[in-house]
Amino acid sequence: MVLETHDVVKRFSGLVAVNEVSLHVAEGEIVGLIGPNGAGKTTLLNAIAGLAPPTSGRVVFLGKETTGFPPEKMCHMGLSRTFQIPRPFPKMTALENVLTAAVFGKKERGGGGAKTDPWRASRELLEFVEFPVSADILSENLNTVQLKRLDLARALASSPRLLLLDELAAGLTEGELKDIIRIIFKIRDRGISILMVEHIMQLIMSLCERLVVIQFGTKIAEGPTQDVARDPKVAEAYLGSSH
Ligand SMILES: Nc1ncnc2c1ncn2[C@@H]1O[C@H](COP(=O)(O)OP(=O)(O)OP(=O)(O)O)[C@@H](O)[C@H]1O
Ligand SMILES: [Mg+2]
Repeated sequence: MVLETHDVVKRFSGLVAVNEVSLHVAEGEIVGLIGPNGAGKTTLLNAIAGLAPPTSGRVVFLGKETTGFPPEKMCHMGLSRTFQIPRPFPKMTALENVLTAAVFGKKERGGGGAKTDPWRASRELLEFVEFPVSADILSENLNTVQLKRLDLARALASSPRLLLLDELAAGLTEGELKDIIRIIFKIRDRGISILMVEHIMQLIMSLCERLVVIQFGTKIAEGPTQDVARDPKVAEAYLGSSH
């Protein structure tokens, strides 16, 4: 198993944002983590990635207990994530941002044996994610869609085993959705497992073999995508929200 969470709880003073959520991601899987706005999806990703450690419960990554490990350590172990709101270094070019992640992201694992030129590897990653503008553009000049694509290249630069995606496709046009679906499959074909938070049904239905649904921090459904999509509890959770 690449990732397991066991009864993960995250409390913010009075609020239980994540309530005893257990889930798993197997090798090579693309799992969708869905639920209405405010359900606790980003909070759960943060608990897994070490950005805001769980109040209780356990996180097991690649068979090792990693509960409360800081994000740098998780990154070095092979866990990467994209952000709902990407914040690259604004005064660096797109290429320099990816390079920074390539240089600092994979210390302990050495990153694939033969000495690869990090500049070349970073350029190739921008090509791999089909970055739509020049690699030499200053990051402060990128629009939301370009920022998300850069963030994806940045996340891949540390050669992860597991990638957590937080609403990577928000704001994309129909054509861009097709592109991102293709790119996510390419990532999985590189042997990277994926846990993705997403609201866009088209994307979820095309990409995810399995879904975990949370509402008010609690898991309400889990299983093969087609089954979960037909579950009346899930429709109800969405109808009762702003979606
Ligand atoms: N740092 C924090 N301090 C206090 N409350 C927080 C904090 N972060 C999140 N919350 C609260 O926890 C709950 C879950 O938020 P979270 O951002 O995880 O939801 P989400 O499922 O990612 O929603 P969305 O789909 O809108 O991104 C919300 O009620 C939110 O207000
Ligand atoms: Mg969120």
